[in-house]
Amino acid sequence: MENLPPAAIRKANAKDIDDIMEIERLSFHPEVIESKKVFEDRIKAFSDGFLIAEIEENGEKIIAGYISSELWKYSEEIPHANFNLNHSVYETHSDSGEELYISSVAVNPAVRGGKIGKRLFTELLSRVSKKHKLKSAILLVNSDWQNAYKMYQKEGFVTIDKISDFFPRLENSDSGDDPSGVGIIMRKSL
Ligand SMILES: CC(C)(COP(=O)(O)OP(=O)(O)OC[C@H]1O[C@@H](n2cnc3c(N)ncnc32)[C@H](O)[C@@H]1OP(=O)(O)O)[C@@H](O)C(=O)NCCC(=O)NCCS
Repeated sequence: MENLPPAAIRKANAKDIDDIMEIERLSFHPEVIESKKVFEDRIKAFSDGFLIAEIEENGEKIIAGYISSELWKYSEEIPHANFNLNHSVYETHSDSGEELYISSVAVNPAVRGGKIGKRLFTELLSRVSKKHKLKSAILLVNSDWQNAYKMYQKEGFVTIDKISDFFPRLENSDSGDDPSGVGIIMRKSL
């Protein structure tokens, strides 16, 4: 995506929720879309960990992508239930946690490939690291979401665990003909 205007990265606020949910709807299969309440709570519980990418089009600011996160207490073995879609941030987040859990990231399909996802990712890690003592970052990705998986590998995340049948086996543009639904847990030491 050559001619994309540079994105400005800022913290999310409650007024952004409908735009966030629209990007969620455009990015994920209906069976794995998380609820509006889950996203609202993420903004309330840890606003430093919820960033928005904004671009300007014809003088108007448009939300082009988001990234959300939580702080978890560090543990080598993480209960798989922590990763459940639609879990409440209030069950898992701790302000003194040393592990940054990236709960979701998505970019509007119209502006993908223009480094907005990468910027959201690197800004999140750098901004949260300045305020919190982080040991590592962690996430779970569907093995069928190849673009996201490649981005995480490129950012230095390595696979530490896999959960069979974590996701329903869904056809989508990234998964090819044979979706497996495996959840891949990836971690990066910081
Ligand atoms: C994953 C996602 C957020 C990436 O956002 P983006 O703005 O398009 O990505 P970027 O342009 O910043 O690219 C970052 C890296 O992702 C990978 N990537 C992104 N799009 C890719 C594609 N079409 N093919 C291969 N790799 C791709 C590459 O490693 C790329 O780095 P590079 O360009 O230096 O090779 C976006 O594709 C998306 O919203 N996907 C649907 C939602 C999703 O799967 N979210 C992840 C949930 S775990």
